[in-house]
Amino acid sequence: MYQCHLCGKKLVSIISLGQQPLANRLLNSPDQIDDIWYDATWSWCDDCKLLMLVDPPSPDIVFESNYPYLTGQSKFMNEHFEKTAHTLYHQYNLDSAKVIEIGCNDGGLETLIKDHHDVLGFEPASACCPILEAKGIPHRRMKFDARSARETAEAWGKANLVYCANTLRSLKDLRGFFMAVLEMLYDDGVFVIEDPYIVDIVNRNEFDQFYSEYVYGFTITSMQNIARMFGMEVIDIDPLPDNHGGSLRWHMARVGKRPISTNVEALKVANSEFALKDKLNRFQQMIDDISTMFVDELVHLRDTDKKVVGYGATAKSVTLLNYANIDSELLPVIYDTTPTKVGKYLPGVHVPIRDAKEFSDVPKGCIVILFPYNLKREIFDREKGRRWLLYFPSVHYEESDAA
Ligand code: TYD
Repeated sequence: MYQCHLCGKKLVSIISLGQQPLANRLLNSPDQIDDIWYDATWSWCDDCKLLMLVDPPSPDIVFESNYPYLTGQSKFMNEHFEKTAHTLYHQYNLDSAKVIEIGCNDGGLETLIKDHHDVLGFEPASACCPILEAKGIPHRRMKFDARSARETAEAWGKANLVYCANTLRSLKDLRGFFMAVLEMLYDDGVFVIEDPYIVDIVNRNEFDQFYSEYVYGFTITSMQNIARMFGMEVIDIDPLPDNHGGSLRWHMARVGKRPISTNVEALKVANSEFALKDKLNRFQQMIDDISTMFVDELVHLRDTDKKVVGYGATAKSVTLLNYANIDSELLPVIYDTTPTKVGKYLPGVHVPIRDAKEFSDVPKGCIVILFPYNLKREIFDREKGRRWLLYFPSVHYEESDAA
């Protein structure tokens, strides 16, 4: 019987994706053994209105030194950081402010703001650190916790803005994390969080988002509850419908320090969060239907001698391929632009990852599975005249414009 990580109440089991490998733990050879698996079961806390991975792998293993994900591979994400920097700067009058980003990855946001702000990134993944060094971005190569927050607050000072994108959902210890943020934040400081929004994920059927870094699926109510536990409140929310398959940007401040925007309640109503639990109850069936249809399509393509390749070795692809048991027999290769991924193999299914520079050699008649569907516009612009196989909201084909 599992209990809520936050309130300790009994959880309701929602979905199981079986045993899964760690999504970003890529293999060096096809024969390497996947040594770490976890039970991919997510449950719901009806008190906190929060979905959670009941027994997540330790973040020390998930974000270990060879973590390969680099945010800067996407033009869309770089533009997103530019817009974010601009929005937050004006919204909070952040002239010469001190800004911290937790989980800054390769430093997209810091590059844009370092000339106007005193910035500091926290990043435990060592593949990112040479990139941060080359960009001249001050950072601490460590995870963000109460100890590192206290030391930083003493040595570097407190922050006017603490920002984290696609990080909070990965951290089981929300209490420890929030306590650390409070150590770092000036009394009237703002804490801004971006993460995929569980309502968007469920409405769009994007079950592959449930990989080893997806410990929490936040609702607006759950974020309000969490903020309250730490003497904070959600003061504003921005919808980010195109980020990582549908995200929200939550703004928090200490209670009474900042006005609360009417956006908060308006978005809660507009997204009909009360209907979420019903949809979650039907989610497992939908997962099984899509997986079966996807495998059937790949088998049909193989049996009719159609060549198939993948594009974008996403963490998300690991969920789908492992759950549906699709290995290199049905999908011989995936192309990707990320230097830290090229030459490696996807965990569990051992599909090789090749350099996207070689993708131009793939004949135009070949079917291409689009794994980063969240970056569809950018990829379709780059890779014209292709026939793509997508699987959300259901299995279907699309064409990118002619070259
Ligand atoms: P993303 O959707 O951010 O993935 P995740 O599920 O891991 O969070 O990943 C984008 C992946 O796609 C990343 O490995 C880089 C790759 N990519 C390309 O190969 N070509 C491209 O044009 C773009 C934009 C991304």
